[in-house]
Amino acid sequence: MRIFLDTANIDQIKKAVKMGVISGVTTNPSLVAKENTADYETVVKTICGIVNGPDSSVSAEVLSEDAESMIEEGRIKASWAPNVAVKIPSTAAGLEAISTLSKEKIKINMTLCFSVNQAILGARAGTTFVSPFVGRLDDIGHDGMQLIGDIVTVFDHYKLPTQVIAASIRNPLHCVTAAKVGAHIATVPYSVLMQMINHPLTDIGISRFLDDWKKVSQK
Ligand code: G3P
Repeated sequence: MRIFLDTANIDQIKKAVKMGVISGVTTNPSLVAKENTADYETVVKTICGIVNGPDSSVSAEVLSEDAESMIEEGRIKASWAPNVAVKIPSTAAGLEAISTLSKEKIKINMTLCFSVNQAILGARAGTTFVSPFVGRLDDIGHDGMQLIGDIVTVFDHYKLPTQVIAASIRNPLHCVTAAKVGAHIATVPYSVLMQMINHPLTDIGISRFLDDWKKVSQK
């Protein structure tokens, strides 16, 4: 399972890239607004300069609501950098935009996906990625990870090339389950990435090794 960072925070992205563990970034209007800027283009271009490996992907969301405007906006956002994936919502207008843009070889991340049916239609329209929102389904008492598993099973069954991004990840257990059910990618907030790394027994082990070493080295 590949790991993307779900943030528009440049410092966090730089830190995660240094660790060599992320191959992509997903943004959305809320995440960009959180960084206190309305300049989506500069943010995305900066991120694309930092996350630029051969397999990298940086998602930038359209803000238009009708198909024609989404298509126009998608073309512009895709031109910002070669590794941009245009994020388009799972709506009828979104499917129309995905269908047109995918034929132009523009990479697409179909977002705000909450059902297997939406995912199937997105794949048929040619989306590169589909992003089911796990945490938001859990929030309303549904099983978000069950949806990830179901979509992976259907895509595998029909050998559909669309990749599943487990999104709206809220905790490290979400990452483990996403990997177990076969999500291609998990996009995680920086705080969850750190929770994936940290373990109290690792910290205790390091300090015990250093204490023991001090005892002999001071003899
Ligand atoms: O990747 C989608 C994500 O940004 C939404 O997360 O926590 O707002 O549901 P959340």
